[in-house]
Amino acid sequence: MLKTKIAVFVSGGGTNLQALIDAEKRGEIPNGEIALVLASNDSAYALTRATENGIKSVVVKRKEFPSQETYEERMKAILDENGIEMIVLAGFMSLLSEDFTSLYSKRIVNIHPSLIPSFCGKGFYGLHVHEAALEYGVKVTGATVHYVNEIPDGGEIILQKAVDILAGDTPEVLQKRVMEEAEWVLLPKAVEMVACKLRKGN
Ligand code: GRF
Repeated sequence: MLKTKIAVFVSGGGTNLQALIDAEKRGEIPNGEIALVLASNDSAYALTRATENGIKSVVVKRKEFPSQETYEERMKAILDENGIEMIVLAGFMSLLSEDFTSLYSKRIVNIHPSLIPSFCGKGFYGLHVHEAALEYGVKVTGATVHYVNEIPDGGEIILQKAVDILAGDTPEVLQKRVMEEAEWVLLPKAVEMVACKLRKGN
């Protein structure tokens, strides 16, 4: 069966990348294939995960380009060379312009560690998201997979999963629970849904 060729964009530890790799190995992403890992820096542990699993990887650093335009042109060229049809942002910390995201309309997905529209948008990344949820005092948080457009965390929602906040949670403890209970479950499911849609051409 022909599979949707997927690039996973990363900047850090890559536990969501690992969840995708494991799901693909278990046969849970029958319509997609992780064909490339693109990292924004060469110290991302996600690169090691790619190598250990025989997945091609490449590092593209924004600061090595004179402009956002030339940076994105390089990424587009790499994606084209590798026949990439879909992009997963899995902890990717570099900004993408509307020029880039509009090239891949409904073909880029992102995982965000809250229930959008809460605790999302500019400044809400990493532990800050969980700090804000605890500070506000919400009793339920979670994760969201959504399409990426020009609005930070503003694209159409694909899947969400709720996670309880427990007494005594610290941002670190909550981050871990959201990853284990929501992110690593949700992302492979959403990726299969989108990869399948793309195969069917809708
Ligand atoms: C995750 O919490 C994800 O929701 C957010 O960035 C983090 C990446 O973690 N977008 P990892 O690199 O996948 O471990």
